[in-house]
Amino acid sequence: MCGIVGYLGHKNAAEVIVDGLSKLEYRGYDSAGIAVVNEGKLEVRKFKGRLSVLAEDIEKNNLEGNLGIGHTRWATHGEPSDVNSHPHYNQDKTIAVVHNGIIENYMELKEELKSEGIEFKSETDTEVIAHLVDKYYKGNLLDAVYKAVSKLRGAYALGVICKDNEKELVAVRKDSPLIAGVGEGENFIASDIPALLKYTKKVYFLENEEVVHIKDNELKIYDSERNLVEKEIYDVKWDIEAASKGGYDSFMLKEINEQPEGVKNTLERRLDDDGNIVLEGIKISKEELEKINKIYIVACGTAYHAGLLGKNALEKYLKVPVISDIASEFRYNENFVDENSLVILVSQSGETADTLAVLRDVKEKGAKVLAITNVVGSSISREADEVFYTWAGPEIAVASTKAYTTQITSLYMIALNFALAKGTISEEYYKEIINKMKKLPEKIEEIISKQEKIKDIAKKIVSKEHVFFLGRGVDYSLAMEGSLKLKEVSYIHSEAFAAGELKHGTIALIEGETPVIAIATQEKLFEKMVSNMQEVKARGAFVISIAQQHNESVEKVSDEVIYIPNCDDMLVPILAVIPMQLLAYYVSTMKGLDVDKPRNLAKSVTVE
Ligand code: AGP
Repeated sequence: MCGIVGYLGHKNAAEVIVDGLSKLEYRGYDSAGIAVVNEGKLEVRKFKGRLSVLAEDIEKNNLEGNLGIGHTRWATHGEPSDVNSHPHYNQDKTIAVVHNGIIENYMELKEELKSEGIEFKSETDTEVIAHLVDKYYKGNLLDAVYKAVSKLRGAYALGVICKDNEKELVAVRKDSPLIAGVGEGENFIASDIPALLKYTKKVYFLENEEVVHIKDNELKIYDSERNLVEKEIYDVKWDIEAASKGGYDSFMLKEINEQPEGVKNTLERRLDDDGNIVLEGIKISKEELEKINKIYIVACGTAYHAGLLGKNALEKYLKVPVISDIASEFRYNENFVDENSLVILVSQSGETADTLAVLRDVKEKGAKVLAITNVVGSSISREADEVFYTWAGPEIAVASTKAYTTQITSLYMIALNFALAKGTISEEYYKEIINKMKKLPEKIEEIISKQEKIKDIAKKIVSKEHVFFLGRGVDYSLAMEGSLKLKEVSYIHSEAFAAGELKHGTIALIEGETPVIAIATQEKLFEKMVSNMQEVKARGAFVISIAQQHNESVEKVSDEVIYIPNCDDMLVPILAVIPMQLLAYYVSTMKGLDVDKPRNLAKSVTVE
């Protein structure tokens, strides 16, 4: 998820574009760049780092010109660096391209272009587009872009300019968001509304495979067959703040709503034509898998909680003992890591100090290190032996939500592939569970569509001082995450208990009206959970249960029930966490707290 902006008009393009990109940094902020055409010359400036690096450079070395395209990056192919930053351009530096999305067939196109003598400068998928447009360019930029995109497979929002066409910009949308903006004597393209709002509120929302052609003062839109498309212009009512949150009140709520897309991207972009998972970036052979006799999953906070579910899947599928631990403890405990160990590190930011320190410790002990992270080019992704990216897109809110569900999805994909390679699961089961995983995004949407119920329940616990979460098995791991979410954004004291432990002490905390969130999603443990819920109910607890739709008998022991769509017990944690994220969100906002920036917390903890 990157941000692109394009401009043709009477203002200084660099100024307009850098300003627009500053409103899109929530889409990616690891590198930024711009290309401007002025007096028949194409000038490209691009740098690793926040947009401010580019802005400072332009401040020092002015950039003239009324035509330009710009980009703020969230790396997927090629780690953040000056050369991998956008815009990318052709060999003669006459054509420049900015891109948001992923070109799935870029390797084959790259080999083809290389065989035609093209030399590549970057590791990105995007650079192939600049060379393809150049290949087809015979003076008509729109023509060349149409021919180039006809070769592409994947998702792309593109902005293309050429030094020979000083009054022309071409943009294309397929699967990645792109809008076009109409101003007084100026026209714009951008990934999202916030980039344009300062200059115009008149925008076109582009459909898939539509092409924008800005020429001189005119903006025209064509379909994939080059037919002119008449479109209704939309008058935006939002202010910039609201727009960068996509119309949501906060990044946390926006990111909760982005989980269907995050899980879909993390899974489906790794399925080959036969529906098998391709773990690109992981080259652990069958022989190495055979040699591994201990697996560790180490992380912090929410990532640790995702690791607990990974432990369950790896043990179930691979039949190997898995130790899951928090990094700040693991690094000082006896951990028996050696050359036959696989250490999986989970980290959204890829910069968490304790997790990074574990990486360095276990590498010294000869272990194989596999990182699951959301940030390409992060320290952990660079130092690990193998890296698997969650494709959740940038997570801005401190309280981690979409990173958690995409981390679990990633851990399940790795467990399934390792087990299939090792022969500890059948090809049939492998296909069956992947087909069930593909249905998760729509089930998440179904839960999110029922959030009014969760909002009502939040009203019943907002004034409480203590809230307890109960679960057995994977539901206990889920209870830990639910409790952390509530704690970190509402400041209410909450704890997660293994339900079977209640009678060994913790039930002493239960008194009249104490809210207890009981997670009962596992078939084989359902009856046991119901009896634990009766135990706390008998002591006066206000029981809010989370259960699968078909388990209506839970109503007998609950004051409130949040049903989630029926689902395979292995996959249900990815669904059951959503109501708890929403509950924490609503309690926090009802308390008037800053849900995106909770007190005492930081998005990435880079100190021990
Ligand atoms: C979760 O909501 C918190 N932001 C925090 O516990 C976080 O999960 C932890 O700091 C780990 O961060 P990481 O995934 O970036 O390593």
